[in-house]
Amino acid sequence: MARTPRLAAGRARALGAPTRGTTNPNRLRRVDRWLVGSSTVRAALTGQDPLVVDLGYGATPVTTVELATRLRAVAPDVRVLGLEIDPERVEAAKPAADPPALDFRRGGFELAGTRPVLLRAFNVLRQYPEDEAARSWATMLARLAPGGLLVEGTCDEIGRRCSWVLLDAEGPRTFTLSCLPAGIDRPSDLAERLPKALIHRNVPGEPVHELLCALDACWATAAPFAPFGPRARWVESARLLAAEGWPVLDDRRRWRLGELTLSWAAVAPNA
Ligand SMILES: C[S@@+](CC[C@H](N)C(=O)[O-])C[C@H]1O[C@@H](n2cnc3c(N)ncnc32)[C@H](O)[C@@H]1O
Repeated sequence: MARTPRLAAGRARALGAPTRGTTNPNRLRRVDRWLVGSSTVRAALTGQDPLVVDLGYGATPVTTVELATRLRAVAPDVRVLGLEIDPERVEAAKPAADPPALDFRRGGFELAGTRPVLLRAFNVLRQYPEDEAARSWATMLARLAPGGLLVEGTCDEIGRRCSWVLLDAEGPRTFTLSCLPAGIDRPSDLAERLPKALIHRNVPGEPVHELLCALDACWATAAPFAPFGPRARWVESARLLAAEGWPVLDDRRRWRLGELTLSWAAVAPNA
C-alpha cells in the first residue's frame, strides 16, 4: 500500500507516495509493443518535440530505457522523461540518463510541471486505495498535452500477464488484456492483474466480471484448437468473443500476440 502522507514532503510537492519499487528488465515489453503498434499512439507522437513521461519507474530505470529505445524506432524525435516520487530512485537512475533524449527527475501525479503527449504509469496505482487511484487519473489527464494519452496498467513480475487502459483527456477509451497464452489455464487468470479501476469490480453484476466469464466460455468452446497450441486457442477465443457482439477493436494480427483490446464501454464499472 502507498505510504502516507499523500502529498510527499519536499520542494517539488510531488503528488503521491512512494511504494514498492519492484521492476524487471523486459517486464513491460507487451505494453511497449502495443504502444508502438497503435496508430492512435503513433499519431500522438508525431508533433514537434514529443515528450513521453514514464511515471513510477521503480528501483531501477530499466523499463524507461527500454521504452525510449522502442519508441524511437517509430518516433525518432521522442524525448523520454522518467519520473519517480522516491528521490533515491531518481539518483540511482542518473547514470542511465542521456539528456535531452532520456532523463530522470523527481515527480508524482502532477508530472513535475511537464505536458507529455504520452504518459505511461505501470504498476503504480495498484498500491493505492481505489478512490485515490481514481482521483489520480483526473490529476494526470488534466496535465497531458492537447491530444495526449495515458496508458495505465498492471502486470506480473515477468510481464506475461498484463492489462491496461488507454485514456485521453475525456477519460478511458480502451481496455487491453495481454498474456502469454501458454502461461494461463484460462483467460480469467488475468483477473489478478487487472488495473486498479477494475480489480475490485471483478464480482458478479459488474461488466469486467461478465467479460472474463464470457472469455472463459469462449476459451472452453475453443478447446478443439488446443492441439494447435495455446496461441491458436487464444485467437479462436477472441474471434468467438467478437462474434458474440462484444466491442472487440483489434483483429487476428494482434490476437496472435496474446492481446485483446475492447472498447472501455465493455468493462466500465457500474456507478
Ligand atoms: C512497482 S514499481 C513499478 C516500476 C515499473 N513501472 C514497472 O512496472 O516495473 C512502482 C513505483 O512507482 C513509484 N510511485 C508510486 N507513486 C508514485 C507517484 N505518485 N508518482 C511517481 N512515482 C510513484 C514508487 O515509488 C515505485 O518506485
